Amino acid sequence: MKRCCWPSAVLPTYLLVVLLLALAASGEVIPRCGDRQLSQEEVEAQSGIVEASAAKRQALMQSTSKRTVLHAFQQQQRARAVNDYLDTYTLLTLDIPINYYVVHHEDGTGYVEEAMLEAQTAVMNDRFASPIDTGLRFHTNATVYINDTSLAMLCGHRRQFIAARYVILDGRDPAESLNVLVCRSRRFLGVAVFPWEAPEDDALQSINLHPGSLPGGYVADFNEGDTLVHEAGHYFGLFHVFEGTTCSRRRGDFIRDTAAQKYPTSGCPSPEESADTCPHRRGHDNIHNYMDYSTDACIDRFTRWQVVYMRYYTEYFRPRLSNAALVVEASSATCTDLGWQPADGVVGANGRGVCAESRVGSGDQCLTGDWFDAFFHCQSIGARMCTSDELMSMDNKGDIGRCRGLLRNRLVWTTNFCSRARRAVVRLRRRRPPKMECRPPERQAGTILCCADDTDTR
Ligand SMILES: *[C@@H]1O[C@H](CO)[C@@H](O)[C@H](O)[C@H]1NC(C)=O
Ligand SMILES: *[C@@H]1O[C@H](CO)[C@@H](O)[C@H](O)[C@H]1NC(C)=O
Repeated sequence: MKRCCWPSAVLPTYLLVVLLLALAASGEVIPRCGDRQLSQEEVEAQSGIVEASAAKRQALMQSTSKRTVLHAFQQQQRARAVNDYLDTYTLLTLDIPINYYVVHHEDGTGYVEEAMLEAQTAVMNDRFASPIDTGLRFHTNATVYINDTSLAMLCGHRRQFIAARYVILDGRDPAESLNVLVCRSRRFLGVAVFPWEAPEDDALQSINLHPGSLPGGYVADFNEGDTLVHEAGHYFGLFHVFEGTTCSRRRGDFIRDTAAQKYPTSGCPSPEESADTCPHRRGHDNIHNYMDYSTDACIDRFTRWQVVYMRYYTEYFRPRLSNAALVVEASSATCTDLGWQPADGVVGANGRGVCAESRVGSGDQCLTGDWFDAFFHCQSIGARMCTSDELMSMDNKGDIGRCRGLLRNRLVWTTNFCSRARRAVVRLRRRRPPKMECRPPERQAGTILCCADDTDTR
């Protein structure tokens, strides 16, 4: 058995088509996950569930146009221009709730104790904390047991399972939690869906995990809990280190600090230099990387740039997850803490004493950057990004510090979303009211202005 990210087994046809086209264009080969044929009996047993979910599926089809998905793919390609946010800012911790759904047979096959799931969450926390701290943490929010042989038999299976997911998740919102379906597939240890493949609140946004891969599980060599770490890597937007089965410089996993690797690793080659499927390229295979197929004992790291990308994709594609999981929800510091004097303060129309400014540190630094710069920067100084409402009601005549000139007639990033791929900016105009616009988040040169919530009553 192998770890498997490839969502072809769970993707609806229309998504799959887009995926195949995109890959065919770049000549990549698709690693196949299992796709067992169902018996007539199983299909009939499931028809009720499929029907019940037809309306939901219909809604999904309408809400995700091919263009949206394709656009997301293009964004992903362009994302190679991602900045080194990890180096520039202190990324705040996100504490992500996990919901486990144990889908087991009535005779007990596939049943696992809660303690094993708790151990799995502990492994997630361990792996995402070091050697490079991703700032991503996890806690078990709910464990749901589903004692249903017919559902268990659909584990990881194509269309029926898509419908079944709505039933299994039972109203829990995938946009605000990581949903892990623990069930036995005969073909793979795990399957995840990439963040750009479906809307963030869609039931597709969940991971399938084989119970034998849990810490202490029965699948030899793959029972230390690293399969979920690997699948979560996909869920946060990472490809395999051998993506595209190519040594090409322009394809592969798009990660700068993983060496070119053509094929998945099996076992744990020793010495490690002996594994080198792209001998004419620098470095040897990434056999210790979580995004390879080596055994659990062999893998122990994400690279720096994998971490940068995971955080980037999470803010980009899962804004609600970041908000729900952000440990510091508003600004941890008040205006006074940040040294933003009342003179620099901007009192929001709501009178909550919001203060905003664009000056940083001791110097007269006035920052511009892309949306992610604004997001990470505001977080790292203990403030937060301003909402469009706050900026729209900002007293532009007031003293907003030494960056006042910079702010005039400039676009300021806000927390608001226009659509999946665009973020709202507010243009602060001279002698005219501010105006809201939309632009792609990776565009540079929006002005960075942060807000803080002053608890002082004035
Ligand atoms: C699952 O259901 C079957 C029959 O419906 C029952 O005999 C069995 O005890 C249940 N198992 C668990 C773990 O609840
Ligand atoms: C956490 O679990 C509770 C109880 O099952 C559920 O109602 C809630 O939706 C879950 N929270 C998230 C964020 O999934």
